[in-house]
Amino acid sequence: MHTQRTAVLVKPDGMHRGLIGEIISRFERKGLKLVGLKMVQLSDSQLSEWYVEHKDKSFFGDLKSFMSQMPIVAMVWEGIDAIPVVRKLVGTTLGREAEAGSIRGDFSMSQQLNLIHASSSVNDAEREIGIVFKDSELFEYPSVLDQVIYAEYERK
Ligand code: CMP
Repeated sequence: MHTQRTAVLVKPDGMHRGLIGEIISRFERKGLKLVGLKMVQLSDSQLSEWYVEHKDKSFFGDLKSFMSQMPIVAMVWEGIDAIPVVRKLVGTTLGREAEAGSIRGDFSMSQQLNLIHASSSVNDAEREIGIVFKDSELFEYPSVLDQVIYAEYERK
């Protein structure tokens, strides 16, 4: 049980479909805390770093062109075990097989056009956050929410 930060991107298809508010709302209502938020148009070199694990895959170039076509929304969410919690809210990669109730399960059908990115591990989260956010763009602040979302022993 650790407080974690995780990176989320609303992908171009999520932007086109007007799902920024819906996505933010799902994380808010779960009890996660927003600690970073910006619009950004990712460059080819940022995306090469972001998707380094896919660099040898056949879809690497296509994925980078898809992701760099327009400005997107990048966010950092914080909470206890935030990385797996957000992944569960997002759902599995292939939209048409993703669990109903998850963001992809409720709103997507595709593999590439799956609306949203969420970090998959502590190392990935740190690396991804560093690609898009400066330290000064990430915030620490007390939230009254903490008192009603977590028990006292979980807040220590
Ligand atoms: P995500 O899991 O967020 O990060 C890697 C992305 O690559 C994935 O979402 C999909 O958008 C995309 N992706 C995965 N597999 C394929 C594929 N076979 N063809 C095209 N895009 C893919």
